Amino acid sequence: MLRTLNKKHQITENSEPPKPPPEILKTSAQSSSQKSRGIGTFEPKTIPRDIVDPKKTERRAEKVGINVSQPPPDYGRTVWITDATDGFRAARIIDLSATGFTLRLLDNTGDTVTRVFEDVLACEDDSRRHVEDNCQLMHLNEATLLNNIRLRYQNGKIYSYVANILISINPYQTIDGFYSLQKIKEYRGKSLGQKEPHIFAIADKSYREMIRHRKSQSIIVSGESGAGKTESQKAVLRYLCENWGSGAGEIQKRLLETNPILEAFGNAKTLRNNNSSRFGKFVQIHFADTGNVAGGYVSHYLLETSRICRQAAGERNYHIFYQLIAGSSPELFKFLALGQPNQFNYLKRGFIGFFTHPSSGTTSKIPKNRLSDPKFTQDSMVDDFSDFQRLEYALKLTGLSEQEIHFIWTTIAAILHLGNVEFEESLDDSRGGCKVFNGSEQDLIQAARLLGLETMELKMGLCARIMQTTKGGARGTLIRVPLKPHEACSGRDALSKAIYSKLFDWLVSRINDSIPFEKSTNFVGVLDVAGFEFYAKNSFEQFCINFCNEKLQNFFNQRILREEQELYEKEGLNVRKIEFIDNQDCIELFELKGNGLFDLLDEEAKFPTSNYKSFTKRAHEENRKHFRLDTPRKSKVKSHRELRDDEGLLIRHYAGSVCYETKHFVEKNDDLLHNSLQILIEQSTIRLLVSLFGSTAYPTKSKLKALSVGAKFKNQLSTLLIKLESTGTHFVRCIKPNNQMIPFEFDGSAILSQLQCAGMTSVLKLMQDGFPSRTGFGDLYACYQKKLPPKLSKLDPRMFCKCLFRALGLDQHDFQFGLTKVFFRAGKFAEFDQMMKQDPETMTSLIQKVNEWLVGARWKQSQYAVWSVIKLKNKIAWRSAQVTRLQSIARGYLTRQRFSRQIALYRKSVALLKNSKEIEKILFRLNEHSRAKYTSSAHSTIRDLEKLVSHIKLTTSANDHFEKAENAYEHYVKRVDSMIADLKKQQKSDELAEIERKRRESEEKERLEIEAKKEAERQREIKRKLEEQQQNAQKEHENYLISEIHKAAEETEKKRQNEEKEKLDKMVSNRLAEADGVALISSKMEIEPSSGSATFRDGKYDVGGCSFAYLRDTINTSMDINLLKACEEEFRRRLRIYNEWKSRNAPVQDRPPARAALSTVCEELSIMRSIATPSAPQIQRYFKCEFKENNQKGTCSWGSSIKCEDLDQVSMWFVHFSGQQIQRQLTFTSSRPPQTLIAGRDDAQMCTLALQETLLVGKRGAEISEDEFESHWKLGCLN
Ligand SMILES: Nc1ncnc2c1ncn2[C@@H]1O[C@H](COP(=O)(O)OP(=O)(O)O)[C@@H](O)[C@H]1O
Ligand SMILES: [Mg+2]
Repeated sequence: MLRTLNKKHQITENSEPPKPPPEILKTSAQSSSQKSRGIGTFEPKTIPRDIVDPKKTERRAEKVGINVSQPPPDYGRTVWITDATDGFRAARIIDLSATGFTLRLLDNTGDTVTRVFEDVLACEDDSRRHVEDNCQLMHLNEATLLNNIRLRYQNGKIYSYVANILISINPYQTIDGFYSLQKIKEYRGKSLGQKEPHIFAIADKSYREMIRHRKSQSIIVSGESGAGKTESQKAVLRYLCENWGSGAGEIQKRLLETNPILEAFGNAKTLRNNNSSRFGKFVQIHFADTGNVAGGYVSHYLLETSRICRQAAGERNYHIFYQLIAGSSPELFKFLALGQPNQFNYLKRGFIGFFTHPSSGTTSKIPKNRLSDPKFTQDSMVDDFSDFQRLEYALKLTGLSEQEIHFIWTTIAAILHLGNVEFEESLDDSRGGCKVFNGSEQDLIQAARLLGLETMELKMGLCARIMQTTKGGARGTLIRVPLKPHEACSGRDALSKAIYSKLFDWLVSRINDSIPFEKSTNFVGVLDVAGFEFYAKNSFEQFCINFCNEKLQNFFNQRILREEQELYEKEGLNVRKIEFIDNQDCIELFELKGNGLFDLLDEEAKFPTSNYKSFTKRAHEENRKHFRLDTPRKSKVKSHRELRDDEGLLIRHYAGSVCYETKHFVEKNDDLLHNSLQILIEQSTIRLLVSLFGSTAYPTKSKLKALSVGAKFKNQLSTLLIKLESTGTHFVRCIKPNNQMIPFEFDGSAILSQLQCAGMTSVLKLMQDGFPSRTGFGDLYACYQKKLPPKLSKLDPRMFCKCLFRALGLDQHDFQFGLTKVFFRAGKFAEFDQMMKQDPETMTSLIQKVNEWLVGARWKQSQYAVWSVIKLKNKIAWRSAQVTRLQSIARGYLTRQRFSRQIALYRKSVALLKNSKEIEKILFRLNEHSRAKYTSSAHSTIRDLEKLVSHIKLTTSANDHFEKAENAYEHYVKRVDSMIADLKKQQKSDELAEIERKRRESEEKERLEIEAKKEAERQREIKRKLEEQQQNAQKEHENYLISEIHKAAEETEKKRQNEEKEKLDKMVSNRLAEADGVALISSKMEIEPSSGSATFRDGKYDVGGCSFAYLRDTINTSMDINLLKACEEEFRRRLRIYNEWKSRNAPVQDRPPARAALSTVCEELSIMRSIATPSAPQIQRYFKCEFKENNQKGTCSWGSSIKCEDLDQVSMWFVHFSGQQIQRQLTFTSSRPPQTLIAGRDDAQMCTLALQETLLVGKRGAEISEDEFESHWKLGCLN
């Protein structure tokens, strides 16, 4: 019933389709005819009812505003479209279909493709121009960012900025002179932006900020494995040491030589990088208060120990193993009983080749008998032979003695031999124990020798385990339990891993001892941790690394996006809000107390029968429906789908979904050696080896109390983040251009995915609107304070800053004053830095400028003083005039005092005369008869009294005259009183008679009124009932609409979540397919290209598949009214969606200024708007517009000059814009009921103009408040 009511309502509305105000249409039509590609050209204004008349077709086309020969909107515009291989490709728009664009590729193929609107992005006017800072781009989107980076990279420029963040793309090739001493000199003291983007500029900035703010700084280098993090870190270290470390002598050299040591023991070849760091590090360079290097400190995190025993195919163990084989002297080689890599179990399962620098000639230096594979692999960074020589030098420089270095070689060789020890079942042992395999006895002997152990001791330690009795016998008795072959293998591997990682820890501590920093005031730290990792098979190592990356991404979001925006808000800067995807929920999934994955893993280890399946099961159960966690079945990679639910975790990281195989999680999380191996090491004759393990022969910490690997890592990370939070931060985002490590090869889609992961587009948007450089007024002032002449030193800091800025003539747009700080726009760092620079020359010149400006300002002040004096003079003149007036008033008063008696009598008599006028009034109220009786005596009394008054007025001051007058006055008082009394008496009797008459009359009237009231009551009741019925119907209709809106909102949210999931799942899997060739589950969704003509089904036309040109032509030429209507609806719908796309892709300059926009943004977005703008909040604006309707012609005219006779024709148009698009429109016309239209529901009937095309923004009084709009909207809805 309601629906029919509503329909009826619509039908009446449809009889006169709503039009946007003609004034708007006129301007849009004009402007569109001026512009060749304007959407307004296609605005269908009105559909004439006489459409079927063929003679009128031409006129119709004209009216509808469609020219048969006109192409679709923005025909020929170049745009970027998504592409699976290049990330984005350039194409030209050729058609507007139901769901997106049809485009022609701008390549040799010239193929035609289709894309949904979201996959088409605006392009820079000159797509071949590149900029140093991406914030200078006009159109800010992923495509323009990618294109800018691509253009630069193709021109050999690997660096660019996003404000203060450096983007670096690995060139995979040494660029001549790019990191030379000459370059270092060039960048020293230069502000960011003064020279080409470079890692040295970031290093210089961090150093100068440390000095300026007296605060430690961190440079966070992030990126995938092989993206160039470690190289960047090395460049920073070199820059700082070369510039400010020369005074530190040995320490500077040692700092620089830490890298060969750390790389030899912590780096390895992986599939993605020949020199991949398999540990995280935070290298701090400490500076003394002189600004010179004082020392350093290296913290390291999570060395990947599983690599020591096993490597994936194509990967290598740590470089040191190969370096030792390749570079050791023949004597050492013999002493260590080394051999070819393929003779060692710990090496032979991976890649067994050696590396050499191109044309270094080291290939001939390695004896042939040490090579498993005669072919060498060339790499610009890794050379096993010469790296060993460099390592030896570095170790000596670090202060290690010959014995200590020898200890390192023997330990490394011992690990290799230990790995060759194999086990077999011991048939003599009834308890199922094992013994060392005969073939590996020699390796056992060598391992024992090199570890300083007795061979038997080592054998026993490996084949059996010592346990402490808990029941029976004496409590605490140690018993030896034989191990099965696989248990002995695990023990052996655990021992090798423990020895290696302890050796690594010891090396780092020795490095730290060699670079002490007692006099440090602050440091610059460089963080280089393994980047986000994903392989076809991912295990606990990737789990930890990716957790670490989540934390760092969160820190980045916090620093760059959240804190930055909060600061703008706090300082009142009104910068447009930028949305970003928060990954806090993912971090919580890992580290939440109780049901976080790390805690569940630790808990699992406590069970005697702990196993990975129950851990995985619990992980899924405890985090059911968590957005970030799913079962492997949901992966896009085919092989992951084969895992069972209790064998894997699919985690949706900020950078994409990774599927982890949980098989070894529990044991990898527990790195404690079993007792017998601990005791075994204690027996070594090598004191250094024993000291590495500390005194743990009988460990007091039980397994339950000892920290797991995950827990230790979590704690280390928390400490690191606390440290980072207390420092100033600088970010370097490294990008890996291709998986094949080919120099200057740009793999667009992989790079795009890395840019997306790093959240660079959100940052780009924020930085373009925001103010990345800032300083407190106090700090800026403090820089200059010492140099200021006395007359300037009295200025307060804020005032001083204002003077400085005015004096420098800075553009108002480039900076803003907050409450406590002054902020600079991106790209204005050089100006900012010039001010902050403390070199005396700049400072003196700036102070001189301030001085000059102040002189000018003071001259203006003195002019103001003169003006003030003139103003004062005028004020004095005005006051003297007022005094004269006061005097005249006083004189008048005195005169009145002198004649007071006469005046009093005069006043009394005048009052009496006035009183006597009452006589006349009473006379007037009497009936005719009584009036005739009293008239003559009354008039004579008044006449006499008038004579008396004129007499008193003329009387002089003689006393007797005066008394007479007084007596006369008394007489007249009595006479008037008695007359009034008589008259009143008469009046009363007259009135009584009148009342009686009226009473009778009113009785009659009352009777008639009661009858009328009864009738009205009856009518009211009928009306109330009718209204109640109407209201109920209206309410039901509203409830229905609200429920529809809620439903739509829920669906949108669900859709958004699913899209987000789909996006994350696709991100990693697509790159895996590309890099490692894994098979994917196909889920391709293509949009339908526009087909031919309309189809007729179930009495309706389906025009969804028609091209835009077809729709346009049909509207112009068809005789079929139903087809015409269908085409028109579809035409309008497409234009609306297209306009939305266009406003989303508007260049930066076209957007409203931040302040104006924010003043119109309301805090809570209504449901309607949240549906319309699920991701980026649009600016909501409201307008009204009057128009005059001329029914005969069916056209309207607008304006304020509406005459009275036109009043019945006046109409009002209210409109709500979200961004550039109309969300709601309301029309009040005198002839029809109000009409409300909502976007998404009534698209076909709505105005399709974008806000800027309506010209409403510039129209005076057109913009109204939200409240005003809502009140009219409610009114419109009620009707
Ligand atoms: N700036 C650079 N110039 C030349 N080659 C580089 C540069 N950055 C990285 N590379 C090359 O890329 C390889 C991997 O870089 P690396 O810094 O080890 O990556 P990550 O630490 O991110 O895993 C290096 O071994 C080197 O060959
Ligand atoms: Mg690295």
